Amino acid sequence: MSSVPPPHARVEAHEQVEVELTVNGSTVTVAVPPRMHLADALRDRIGLTGTHLGCEHGVCGMCTVLVDGVAARACLVFTVQCDGADIVTVEGLGSADEQHPLQRAFAAHHALQCGFCTPGMLMSSYDLLANGPAGTSVAPADLPTEMSGVICRCTGYRGILAAVADVADAYPEGLPEPRNRTPRTLLGRAGRTGSGAGPTDEEPVAAPAEVRLPAGAPTAAVEVRSRLSAPVEAVWRVLDDFDQLARCLPGASLVEVLPDDRYRGRAVVALGPVKLSFDGIAQVVDRDADEHRLRVLAHGADSGGSATQADIRLAASPDGEGTLLSADAALFLSGRIAQFGRALAGDVSKRMFERFAASVEHAANTGEAPQPAAAPNPIRLLFSALLDRLRRNNA
Ligand code: FES
Ligand code: FES
Repeated sequence: MSSVPPPHARVEAHEQVEVELTVNGSTVTVAVPPRMHLADALRDRIGLTGTHLGCEHGVCGMCTVLVDGVAARACLVFTVQCDGADIVTVEGLGSADEQHPLQRAFAAHHALQCGFCTPGMLMSSYDLLANGPAGTSVAPADLPTEMSGVICRCTGYRGILAAVADVADAYPEGLPEPRNRTPRTLLGRAGRTGSGAGPTDEEPVAAPAEVRLPAGAPTAAVEVRSRLSAPVEAVWRVLDDFDQLARCLPGASLVEVLPDDRYRGRAVVALGPVKLSFDGIAQVVDRDADEHRLRVLAHGADSGGSATQADIRLAASPDGEGTLLSADAALFLSGRIAQFGRALAGDVSKRMFERFAASVEHAANTGEAPQPAAAPNPIRLLFSALLDRLRRNNA
């Protein structure tokens, strides 16, 4: 529910207003200052950093998104003006696995160099072919003028115009709709007033009744199999005790036990120069003591707009006198953390699960509750993941 005041009501610049948006098919509530423009809300509050900012005064077109189906410069629209609006960003146009024809054509024509203008070019060309006076019948000769609202500083215009012309040709009956608008959980910084930017010790994140996962393909999928020397029953005792389980996760700590097998926690993820502190909720949705299986859904957000959601399945099975510990995780990342890309995010997550397995083995063998695992050394983690990747590429 939004709390946008009626027209002419006075809101102080330092106050926050709750705005409800539908972004790429999902409803999200964000708390924003009244003068925050839509591009900042998308990037910093919702973690959708595909919308780029160049000039921030309506000249370059980098920030183009669709607002109620029509192209708009997100740097010129206040978020509060968009209350109740349907927004489509470049993330909603298509996904890595199912790209929109425009995205495929841009790739085929090498219609980008640094790529900074590309989200604006894609959304602007979508608007032209979907809503322009000639639709997909636009004449190629008109494209330079029609596309002049977005500036490419790499001067890659030839490829861009060829890509748009190709798509116009291919769809005489009309441009296909955006392809990535399935509802998913978007982590807006919702429901808060005041000037603080993120959850704090004094003001923990609200615990949702259930943890939901986004639809669509995960950013990264991780499969780790570790052979532990401890017997399966001892390993299960650690997995079955969420306090011990959290202590084994690198950088994680349990803050509060909530009803219905839900847990409030904090996780510090450090990668190279980037250090993120996530506050979030985990929920055990399946616990099978006979089969020694556990499924945990988790989501968390940091104050910088990064968000992560995870579907983690843990299983322990007898392996001689020891145990085979299986960890399978589907990770959904957005915001700064997603900028590492799916391959590196997968490698780093794999390393963290390997450390987790070592801690579980120690706890199972000694019967001691492990100390909360320290956040992994960011430089070592980053370099070992990169090194692994290089070795695989050269193999
Ligand atoms: S950033 Fe919006 S037009 Fe340049
Ligand atoms: S590709 Fe670099 S700004 Fe357009």
